[in-house]
Amino acid sequence: MKATAKSPANIAFIKYWGKTDLKSRVPENNSISMCLSDLYSRCTVEFRKDLKTDEIEFKNEAVVKEKEKERIVGVVERVRRLGGVKWKARVVTENNFPKATGIASSASGLSAVTVAALGALGMKMSEKEVSKLARLASGTASRSIPDGWVEWVKGRGADDSYSKQIFPVDWWQITDVVGIVTHKMKKVSSTEGHALARTSPFYKARIQGMKEKVRKIKELIKRRDFSRFGRLVEAEALNMHAICMTSQPAIIYWNEATIKVMKKVISWREEGLESYFTIDAGPSVHVICEEKNAKEVAKRLKKIEGVKRAVINRPGVGARLLT
Ligand code: PMV
Repeated sequence: MKATAKSPANIAFIKYWGKTDLKSRVPENNSISMCLSDLYSRCTVEFRKDLKTDEIEFKNEAVVKEKEKERIVGVVERVRRLGGVKWKARVVTENNFPKATGIASSASGLSAVTVAALGALGMKMSEKEVSKLARLASGTASRSIPDGWVEWVKGRGADDSYSKQIFPVDWWQITDVVGIVTHKMKKVSSTEGHALARTSPFYKARIQGMKEKVRKIKELIKRRDFSRFGRLVEAEALNMHAICMTSQPAIIYWNEATIKVMKKVISWREEGLESYFTIDAGPSVHVICEEKNAKEVAKRLKKIEGVKRAVINRPGVGARLLT
């Protein structure tokens, strides 16, 4: 009754910010993402008769909040209920990047727990059902289940909201060079941020434009039109952060290094190194470029004050059982 799973972080090009159902994590809009090849979580779940309580261990993490453990226990409990099992579980999880810094650690971590727990009980489910189950733990975790380029469909409600592949891994060689600018966990979680989104006076306008943006980005990915794709991705990130900054209370996820990287990306572009930024709920910056430019972008990123690491990611596969 033991299994290990590996699952990637993902980067959203059209983002999920705000929900129609807070508890079941039903989003206000569809979102579009790509699984990342080199940033991931690995998780082992073992159901054991001798355990009195669920045990959660985070490897290589100095700070672990009680809430993080509760979310993992929630996954284990849902899978236990589905499998009709009573045994408690030991969960050991680790990331190859700092969590809660804008690199989708909840996406990779909670999708890995979901797949490992199902695997430990030998339960087989369709990809659609697994993505729904992962969504209940973290919305973005549902997008780490399919391979490659993914759409999370908002659906008609909790039973109908899931993620699916829209293009395979090898569709387009776009890279996401992630500039990691901190190892400190953010102060305001994305769960809190989603709940505040509606307090922004601009939120209605954002949501009104989402259907068209989703349609447009899918068309640009299909045509492999990098310049238009990049411009839309960057504008979308700024749109989401405008909502964060105008929520009440305001949330500013950026730090000094975030802004330095944003400005540099714009000037590299003017010099002919075509790249665009996008930023999730944290200060780290994802610099999107074509594969031929990835090494140069990484080299330049590392020279910017405050950038601790630059990780090159290609489109990657979704969650996998390793055992
Ligand atoms: O970490 P979550 O699942 O609560 O949501 C975070 C959402 C963003 O990363 C900010 C945007 C996105 O769609 O990935």
